[in-house]
Amino acid sequence: MTEDRLQDAAALAWLIAVGADEAIADEPIDRFRTLSRQDRSIVPARLIPAGASPPVEPTPDVPPTDLQVPAQIQPLGTPQAAATARELAAGANTLDELKDAIARFDGLTLKATATNLVFADGNPKARLMLIGEAPGAEEDRRGLPFVGASGQLLDRMLAAIGHDRTSCYITNIVNWRPPGNRKPSPAEMTLCLPFIERHIALINPALIVLLGDTAAKTLTNRNEGITRLRGKWFTWPKPDSTDAIPVLPTFHPAYLLRSPGQKREAWADLLAVKRKLAELELQPKVLSNLVSPQDGE
Ligand code: URA
Repeated sequence: MTEDRLQDAAALAWLIAVGADEAIADEPIDRFRTLSRQDRSIVPARLIPAGASPPVEPTPDVPPTDLQVPAQIQPLGTPQAAATARELAAGANTLDELKDAIARFDGLTLKATATNLVFADGNPKARLMLIGEAPGAEEDRRGLPFVGASGQLLDRMLAAIGHDRTSCYITNIVNWRPPGNRKPSPAEMTLCLPFIERHIALINPALIVLLGDTAAKTLTNRNEGITRLRGKWFTWPKPDSTDAIPVLPTFHPAYLLRSPGQKREAWADLLAVKRKLAELELQPKVLSNLVSPQDGE
């Protein structure tokens, strides 16, 4: 490879590493064309392409049009965005309405860089709900959660305790892919909270499994990392009820792919899920056996 090609490849690798791996417009923007004379004086001459057109002097108040951020990727101010998210989530009475509310919410810049909204997969009537962090590249392409490499491991983990996507419901806290698969920021997580809270309320599962550090910390509201949180039971209060849903954090399948030595702990968590589901299934029957048939006689 020539020196130029090596430099291009290094620049490309750097862009991908910092998350700039998505085209957000149909055409590339030639930033050199829009540099003012003053800007040009601080750009090393070798970076200005030989054939670049003469510098355009921007008028003081109006930035050049191709430097303007498209309206759809301007985030709302955070307090306003948070209020809008809460309002949209609260107004959703069905899963379709919730999906539509998330699609309409413009307060999250991730929406502008993602390809598809990744809402959920599986059976909405399932007793088991699994919640991950955010979609990756394959999920973004297909509009479904956990369909990439970590999703395939998740499917095998579920199969090991007798489940598949017809007997569980899978979603993420963040429904749009963060560019470059970076972790969603705390501000992004906060904006998504009303939607995942409403999602849990609409599914009303018997048990929730939180996959990985981000989902575990966010939904248990704890600061410890996943290594400390995994395998411990928490509860999720049901709205308008004194009941609570048991919640178990466990390792994210993507982490297990990188650290297969931790599969033993994950297996213990899966068995705990299986036991708890069986206990919960039994509970109403035990109670109804206690009150009948003698009580009716
Ligand atoms: N990781 C997640 O947390 N969610 C997905 O959907 C895929 C990968």
